[in-house]
Amino acid sequence: MSEKILVTGGAGYIGSHTTLLLLEAGYEVVVVDNLSNSSLESLRRVEQITGQSVAFYKVDLRDQSQLANVFEAHEFSGVIHFAGLKAVGESSEIPLDYYDHNIYSTINLLKTMQQFNCQRIVFSSSATVYGDPASVPITEDFPTSATNPYGRTKLFIEEIMRDVAVSDEGWNIILLRYFNPIGAHKSGLIGEDPQGIPNNLMPFISQVAVGKRNKLSIFGDDYATPDGTGVRDYIHVVDLSDAHVKAIQHIEQLGGVSTFNLGTGNGYSVLEMVKAFEKGSEKPVAYEIVGRRPGDIAECWADASLAREKLGWKASFGLQEMVEDTWRWQSNNPEGYSE
Ligand code: NAD
Ligand code: UD1
Repeated sequence: MSEKILVTGGAGYIGSHTTLLLLEAGYEVVVVDNLSNSSLESLRRVEQITGQSVAFYKVDLRDQSQLANVFEAHEFSGVIHFAGLKAVGESSEIPLDYYDHNIYSTINLLKTMQQFNCQRIVFSSSATVYGDPASVPITEDFPTSATNPYGRTKLFIEEIMRDVAVSDEGWNIILLRYFNPIGAHKSGLIGEDPQGIPNNLMPFISQVAVGKRNKLSIFGDDYATPDGTGVRDYIHVVDLSDAHVKAIQHIEQLGGVSTFNLGTGNGYSVLEMVKAFEKGSEKPVAYEIVGRRPGDIAECWADASLAREKLGWKASFGLQEMVEDTWRWQSNNPEGYSE
């Protein structure tokens, strides 16, 4: 019998891609999601691509009794925990909602796992926990800090999970710190579907290229970087998802708590991303330079050699493929899943 994995937030951007890769790797997948930032259509398309089915429960992780019903119905060999709110700006406006959806939900999940004797969890952390790093590339032992409630939820959850692991050595926990996920599955059937005005660079650029928005605002060209615009480590969502499959495969052998950066180790500037996108899409991307966005840093990229050593994982997609895959999804689905 194949192993069964619970994926929280599995209808979302990274969760749907990871669900697809888990199915392809031979796992059974159960998804819980409250669909607050996603659509069930993503999972229907995962089923279409793989020819396999995904059990879905519309459950809010803050509801412990509903969550317990899911654990009653299935025996899980592990959990991958994506569910949560993720907009940095919004987190300063409604911090209590962020603590509720991210931290309270995680506590409920961990308690329920404990109750049902399931002690393997992979968690979506973020490079945001490094704050403004003193140097690049960033290794996992760099000091951590947070400048906004979203980042604080990631830091707190990491700490909570470390405490849980100390309290009971039966727990196996992997904290994955993502750099900047972009791209989409090659099929062009699933991808990132932001609600409203995108906060992140890649979905904004692709909406300009497809004609949904007039121009990109580039937040500052006076950083201490080669062309003055911000530099980030963009990583293909399929590479990122593959790391989750490898994390599940290695979690027991690693034991305790492990923390891994997930990035390519390459940094690209905003202007380089615009140029790469114009090349990949053969569409112009109009932009203007505006002031810096508060809280932004100049540059950030990963040293991901620990994930290579311990998980046997390495990013394989280059920049041009990332933008071409983003464009295929965006141009085939200009209104995302809502068409
Ligand atoms: P997403 O919004 O597409 O997916 C998150 C999913 O969680 C959504 O489907 C949403 O409906 C669901 N959800 C939210 N609150 C819930 C709740 N209380 N109960 C049940 N479901 C709930 O986001 P994503 O980009 O796929 O990100 C997944 C995870 O990765 C998040 O934890 C995010 O913070 C983290 N992360 C994302 C990025 C990024 O750039 N996308 C970077 C670093 C870390
Ligand atoms: C942002 C979050 C970070 C989160 C990450 C992934 C902030 C301050 N940080 O990181 O916590 O983990 O997303 O979800 O929100 N840019 C523009 N114009 C735009 C959008 C972005 O010029 O319209 C620039 C930014 O200044 C930055 C780069 O593009 O230099 C990437 O921005 P973005 O995609 O938002 O990611 P991060 O800022 O790295």
